[in-house]
Amino acid sequence: MKDFPLRFDNIHVFVAGGSSGINLGIAHGFAAAGANVSILARKPDKIEAAVAGLKAHGGGVRGFAADVRNYDAVNGALKDAHSAFGDIGVLISGAAGNFVAPALGMSSNGFKAVMDIDLLGTFHVMRASHQFLAKPGASFINITAPQSQRAMMLQAHVCAAKAGIDMLTRSLAMEWAGDGIRVNAISPGPIADTEGMNRLAPTPKAAEASRRGVPLGRWGEKKEIAWAAMFLSSPFAAYISGAILPVDGGGSAGRYDPDLLTQFAQMGIASQV
Ligand code: NAP
Ligand code: COA
Repeated sequence: MKDFPLRFDNIHVFVAGGSSGINLGIAHGFAAAGANVSILARKPDKIEAAVAGLKAHGGGVRGFAADVRNYDAVNGALKDAHSAFGDIGVLISGAAGNFVAPALGMSSNGFKAVMDIDLLGTFHVMRASHQFLAKPGASFINITAPQSQRAMMLQAHVCAAKAGIDMLTRSLAMEWAGDGIRVNAISPGPIADTEGMNRLAPTPKAAEASRRGVPLGRWGEKKEIAWAAMFLSSPFAAYISGAILPVDGGGSAGRYDPDLLTQFAQMGIASQV
C-alpha cells in the first residue's frame, strides 16, 4: 500500500465499521498515506486489535465502540473523534450485517436487524457526521454492494437496505453540495478474505461459481477498494459526486458467461477473428 501515489498527511479519516474486512483495509490505505484515522465498531476486542495494526503506520489512531443503530452513541463517538483530530476530511460509512436466508426464513426481527444496521445506521452516520465534516472539501463515501442494483436470492434484506443506501448517497450528494461536501458510494464486487464472502460463498464450489461471474476472473483484494476510496477522496475526483462506483472486476457490467465466446466460436456462428 506504501506505493499509493497520493498522500493524506494529517487528514482526519473516520471509518464506521472499520474494525475488520474491507473497511479496515480502507483505514490501512489512508493510514499508510499519512492520515489520522478514527474507527467505530461494536466489539472492543476487534477494535483494539485493529487500532494496534493501524498504529504501525505512524499516524494518530483512535477506536470507538458504538452500535450504528444507536444515534446518540454514533454522535458521541464522532464528537470525541473530532476533539482528537479535528474536522473530518474523509468519512467512510461501511458498517453492515448479512446472513443468507430466504425471505420466508427471515423473522420480522431478522429483516429489521439488517435494515437497522445497514440503512438506518448509514443515515445515523451521515446525519451525525455533517456537523464535524470539513466544509468545504470533505469526501463522504458509503460502502454499498451489488445487491443494491441487481437483486439476489437469499438476500432480500440486504438488497432492500443497500438500495436505500444508494438513494441516501444520491440525495445527500445534492443536499450537501452547497457545503462543498462530495458524497459517493463504492460498490465492491466479491472481495477475498472477508466475512461477507465467508457468508455468501461458504464452500469452494460456491466460491468458484462467484469467481466465474467476474469478467476479470478473480475476486478483488481489500487494497483495491482502499485505492478506489483514496481516489474518490483526492483532488482527481473533485468533480465526482452522487456516483455509485462499482469496483468489481466488471461484475456489474451485464450478465457474464465466461464460456460464451468459445462456445459460439466452436459452433462456427461467431468468432473474434
Ligand atoms: P466485516 O469484516 O464483517 O465488516 C463489518 C464491520 O462493521 C466490522 O467492523 C463490524 O464490527 C462492523 N459492524 C457490524 N455491525 C455493526 C453495528 N451494528 N454497529 C457498528 N459497527 C458494526 O465485513 P466485510 O465483508 O468486510 O464488509 C464490509 C462492507 O463491505 C459492508 O458494508 C459490506 O456490505 C460491503 N461489501 C462487502 C463485500 C465482500 O465481498 N465482503 C462485497 C460488497 C460489499 P463489529 O461486528 O465489531 O461491530
Ligand atoms: N437466518 C435467519 N435469521 C437470522 C440468521 C440467519 N442465518 N441470523 C440471524 N437471524 C435473525 C435472528 O434469529 C434474529 O431474529 P429473531 O429475534 O426473530 O430470532 C435477528 O436475525 C437478529 O439476530 P441477532 O443475532 O440478535 O442480531 P445482531 O444484531 O446481534 O446481529 C446480524 C446482526 C444477524 C446481521 C449478525 O450476523 C452480525 O452482527 N453481523 C455482522 C458481521 C457481518 O454480517 N459481516 C458481513 C457484512 S456484509
